[in-house]
Amino acid sequence: MVPGGPILIDGPVEIETPDGRVTRSDRFVVALCACHRSGQYPLCDTTHRTPVRLPGRRRRAD
Ligand code: FES
Repeated sequence: MVPGGPILIDGPVEIETPDGRVTRSDRFVVALCACHRSGQYPLCDTTHRTPVRLPGRRRRAD
């Protein structure tokens, strides 16, 4: 498991999500999204690298 990132597993894999959707990957290593922010969930699309904006917080002016 990558801290703050995906869970890496050996592929190829076939994953069934609770809603019955099946995702297949033929890669040798498959990154499963652990942050639930991926646009390709259950696969990681690196969205976990994007900082989360918290409501009511503003970016600091430089
Ligand atoms: S772990 Fe990478 S997008 Fe969720």
